[in-house]
Amino acid sequence: MQSRYPILFTPLNLGPLTVKNRLIMGSMHTGLEEERGLRSLAAYFEERAKGGAGLIITGGIAPNFSGRGTPFAAELSLLTAALGKLQDHRRVTDAVHRHDSKIVMQILHTGRYAYHPLSVAPSRIQSPITPFKPRALSGFGIQKTIFDFGTSAWLAKKAGYDGVEVMGSEGYLLHQFVAPRTNRRTDSYGGSFENRIRLPLEVVRAIRKRCGEDFLIIYRISLLDLVDGALTWEETVQFGRELEKAGVHVFNSGIGWHEARVPTIATMVPRAAFTEVTEKFKKEVSRPVVAVNRINTPEIAESILSSGQADLVSLARPWLADPYFGVKAFENRADEINTCIGCNQACLDHIFAQKKASCLVNPEAGRELEIVLKPISGEKPRVAVVGGGPAGVSFSIAAAKRGMRVHLFEKRPVLGGLFDLARRIPGKEEFSETLRYFQVELEKVGVQVHLGTEASFEVLSQVEQKENARFDEIVIATGIRPRKLDADWAQDVRSVYYEDLLAGKVKPGDRVAIVGAGGIGFDVAKYLVSHQATRSIPLVVSVRDPALLEQRARFFQEWGITGAGERGESASELKSERTKAIYLLQRKSDRIGKGLGKTTGWIRRKELEHARVQMKSGVKYLGWGTDGFQIEVSGKAQTLSVDQVVICAGQESVRDLEKVFQEKKYRVHVIGGASVASEVDAKKAIEEGVRLAAHLNNRVGNRESGHE
Ligand SMILES: Cc1cc2nc3c(=O)[nH]c(=O)nc-3n(C[C@H](O)[C@H](O)[C@H](O)COP(=O)(O)O)c2cc1C
Ligand code: SF4
Repeated sequence: MQSRYPILFTPLNLGPLTVKNRLIMGSMHTGLEEERGLRSLAAYFEERAKGGAGLIITGGIAPNFSGRGTPFAAELSLLTAALGKLQDHRRVTDAVHRHDSKIVMQILHTGRYAYHPLSVAPSRIQSPITPFKPRALSGFGIQKTIFDFGTSAWLAKKAGYDGVEVMGSEGYLLHQFVAPRTNRRTDSYGGSFENRIRLPLEVVRAIRKRCGEDFLIIYRISLLDLVDGALTWEETVQFGRELEKAGVHVFNSGIGWHEARVPTIATMVPRAAFTEVTEKFKKEVSRPVVAVNRINTPEIAESILSSGQADLVSLARPWLADPYFGVKAFENRADEINTCIGCNQACLDHIFAQKKASCLVNPEAGRELEIVLKPISGEKPRVAVVGGGPAGVSFSIAAAKRGMRVHLFEKRPVLGGLFDLARRIPGKEEFSETLRYFQVELEKVGVQVHLGTEASFEVLSQVEQKENARFDEIVIATGIRPRKLDADWAQDVRSVYYEDLLAGKVKPGDRVAIVGAGGIGFDVAKYLVSHQATRSIPLVVSVRDPALLEQRARFFQEWGITGAGERGESASELKSERTKAIYLLQRKSDRIGKGLGKTTGWIRRKELEHARVQMKSGVKYLGWGTDGFQIEVSGKAQTLSVDQVVICAGQESVRDLEKVFQEKKYRVHVIGGASVASEVDAKKAIEEGVRLAAHLNNRVGNRESGHE
């Protein structure tokens, strides 16, 4: 079969080995690396190897204790090898090698980013994002670190890895040595450029010496720092050439220090936003280079390769979202790919909360041994699902995959529920991909979808009569509705609910106060500022697409990145095109946006600050007056000169049908927002749907009523 992505699936010789395609699974620490036995990690990688990843890079593994990100983080050293880690890693490499895929171990020394008191760095300068002040490495400490990197690589080779990736970017230890920002040493590892790059070069040489010529060495080099005090472009190029001489076979791109206040992977970052800097670097070095970040479709991956921007592409989160990304692309089934929407909610946010990474759109990720969709043997349950939002659709797909016969009822003419509203928020366009995936998958697994059909006992009975069989299970996934407020001002025609605004049922006002600053309040503010200032952003499929060039230019301008391939400095303020006032208000006196995602909340706040949205907390709502909307803050009355109030003050579950079906003696299950509506939570909704489908088993016949 001729693949639509011919370059993506052309093998490439990297020196010590040949990869079967150009599709790398990028490094992600998932939290599975810390488990005993590494069985879950092996199962997780095996699935991706089966799914077509040509080369897998593990999450960062520390070469010694001080290099660990947290006290219990994974380490591969003589000590941990003696405690059995080597055999555990062998389980991982064997699992991947069973499927004609390669795997390299990333060695990551966190340096001053470590979250423990024994952290080390070139100099005793604390990072702005960690609570611990590092100790400056002594001369002996540096020699030991080099030895530990070499040993870790040698152990990785013994465990069956095909090579290592040396983590030299994102502001970790080796990067800290290279940059004047963090290196104030006066010995032979600090000061001049030659001295600052000495440690990474000696690390690479040590690995080469310990592991030989036939062991792949990838170096993740920072091509864009997005902070002050890093290497100049000329120095970066020079550093790359020295790394080549030291023995590096492949360069992976690193974008931004962790402490940079510029988004680099979240959903508002345009697809393939940074590939031009990889292209620029590729022209300067002779080894293959890898492009990274926000490459989430095979089309865009192929366009990067075909336009000569890189030799390979690394996709990290897209492999969480769909373990079969590679096979589906190869077989020209890209429309079946469950696309990563860049939300970070179940991957990076989990890691920051010390939980294991998974994926919002694919809750099976990282839980391959825990959530198993086993085919049902014997009589297949008949299931009616009420509600075509994320919970109902996810359940339906997973249940049908197990062999259940599923009817899905949605009263609106389209599927998606809140996802269908979310995709209208500028910067959340990727949600459309999930809706496309839902549609394709529902059809493929044979779910009978009844759109524009409001479910009731009578409607379901008609289907039962037609098919001459009763439903065994009823799943209520009817979601939420905005909580209606009793206050007089909320009954005024100038007060509207967010759902009506986003669905286009009411027009946005010229000057607007948003009541409620949770996730939906932020979305509405973004919608309003963008509605007035910009257009919604189309999803692009090629790096040469003029729409992408425009998105990139706008994004770079907003965040103060001085241009593709230039060294980005600190973010500058966006010159707001918005001319009209938007207020974002909340009753609680906490900082606005406190409850937003850990890794994206700060971006969403900054975006609104850039657009001059005025945020106020500790607000009491007094009501509409002659000059606008009256509020009280810290005991002082104020009038906001607005012509519309958008209410985003929480939501309530819709589960009216639960009782109806219970009374008719059906087995009823309630999932998603219909079960708990305290917050809008697509992650919980999808996970509940898939978990219920995985656990509903051959209990057909046990027709007693009740709900779970
Ligand atoms: C949960 C998570 C963990 C990560 N851990 C690492 C890591 O250990 N080492 C590393 O070099 N990059 C790490 N990254 C960054 C990814 O390699 C990649 O650069 C980033 O996710 C952007 O690429 P993507 O858009 O294809 O996901 C991590 C990313 C995520 C989401
Ligand atoms: S949780 Fe969101 S960002 Fe992370 S892999 Fe899944 S879709 Fe992508």
